[in-house]
Amino acid sequence: MEVKEAAGRLGVLLPGMGAVATTLIAGVEAIKKGSAQPIGSITQMGHIHLDRKNNGDNYPRIKDFVPLARLEDIVFGGWDVYEDNVYEAASRAKVLEPGTLLALRSELEAIKPMKAVFDKSYIQNLDGTHTKQGATKMALAKALMDDIISFRDTRGCDRLVMVWCGSTEKYTEVADVHESLAAFEKGLKENDPRIAPSMIYAYAALKLGVPFLNGAPNLTVDIPALVELAAQTRTPIGGKDFKTGQTLMKTILAPGLQARALGVKGWFSTNILGNRDGYVLDQPDNFRTKEVSKLSVLEDILRPDLSPELYNDLYHKIRIEYYPPHRDNKESWDNIDIFGWLGYSMQIKINFLCRDSILAAPLVLDLALFGDLAKRAGLSGVQEWLSFYFKSPQTAPGFRPEHDIFKQLTVLQNALRKLMGEELVNPEGLTYAEEEITA
Ligand SMILES: NC(=O)c1ccc[n+]([C@@H]2O[C@H](COP(=O)([O-])OP(=O)(O)OC[C@H]3O[C@@H](n4cnc5c(N)ncnc54)[C@H](O)[C@@H]3O)[C@@H](O)[C@H]2O)c1
Repeated sequence: MEVKEAAGRLGVLLPGMGAVATTLIAGVEAIKKGSAQPIGSITQMGHIHLDRKNNGDNYPRIKDFVPLARLEDIVFGGWDVYEDNVYEAASRAKVLEPGTLLALRSELEAIKPMKAVFDKSYIQNLDGTHTKQGATKMALAKALMDDIISFRDTRGCDRLVMVWCGSTEKYTEVADVHESLAAFEKGLKENDPRIAPSMIYAYAALKLGVPFLNGAPNLTVDIPALVELAAQTRTPIGGKDFKTGQTLMKTILAPGLQARALGVKGWFSTNILGNRDGYVLDQPDNFRTKEVSKLSVLEDILRPDLSPELYNDLYHKIRIEYYPPHRDNKESWDNIDIFGWLGYSMQIKINFLCRDSILAAPLVLDLALFGDLAKRAGLSGVQEWLSFYFKSPQTAPGFRPEHDIFKQLTVLQNALRKLMGEELVNPEGLTYAEEEITA
């Protein structure tokens, strides 16, 4: 397969310039200056095993193996409902130390969010006024397309990619307006309330052939209408919800328990966090979107349908509590009730004192770089090989999502091997990626 070189500048567009987005931007600027390392980023620090029969480097870094945009060639832009520039927004988010931000002040102050497409009915707890007005949702989509084109031209970008880093919208299900592109476009013109702001951003990106990855649990591109548009404009898409913190731990631990045929009776997960994300999730409608995304994980890994004696009675409960003193430093507790030989019970307790945006920022970088790679490789539609990064991976219709992080990594690496014409190290791990990459 021919993968075009990553020549020129890559514009990374971020709807939502809050804690995650500003931690990413500040981090990339610090790395470019040589004052930090891209820890947690597979594209920058990860290696890939190749079967070259000892004729060369069998463990190159991924960034040396596939042609990815260089960090020096990335230009950031985005939208937010608050007009704070990235320096102000990062200072407010309090993820990074003031000293780190001061050293990057001029670069960060130069990045100012464009006016957002916003609908308070989707996020009750936000009151931003830095928003666009338009007679219809179609007019707003066109205004976003104008923003994208103007950003590309004024910043001299050769290619663009969009990663949703906006707040979690209220829970919605696929309705008739989402079922086809024709119905969706009619809905945009008629201001259908079931079209969420994040869908309008995705529509604008896909119309222009800009890859779109969704870091929140909202449906967004996971609707037939936008899958259809992605196919029509040959654009890669992916989602949903960055896999960080507690769910990351869950998808590391659960495959191990399942591999050893240990039973699981209960898994209670609770989180306390005090950032703006936590404030938005304090609204029950918005929490529901996150809850559905987090709940899907265990069943797909443990497969009670295959091993009912081990997992049929599993009680899985998830809570998120808004607790301002913890700011972005989310604390999660898991109590896991497991059982072993002859049914004897045991418990595992996890107390993860994590930093939400520190875990999420490298995922956004990788998704932007791989989204751009997919586009240059001529791939389009749902990029299931990127499931590694998501709590609730979007799949092609009829496929089960894969949640086991180790299988997800094998699929990702095999997709890269396939793109570069290398032998597949574990062909079993290719699964759906093979059909997708050869399509
Ligand atoms: N941090 C993590 O570990 C993590 C993990 C998984 C998913 N996420 C998701 O990533 C998203 C960002 O998280 P965060 O911690 O940066 O939240 P945040 O609240 O700090 O930032 C989100 C930003 O989006 C803006 N926004 C909301 N609606 C918008 C719209 N329609 N257009 C433009 N901007 C809009 C808000 O004003 C806010 O500044 C959330 O949806 C969160 O659930 C985060």
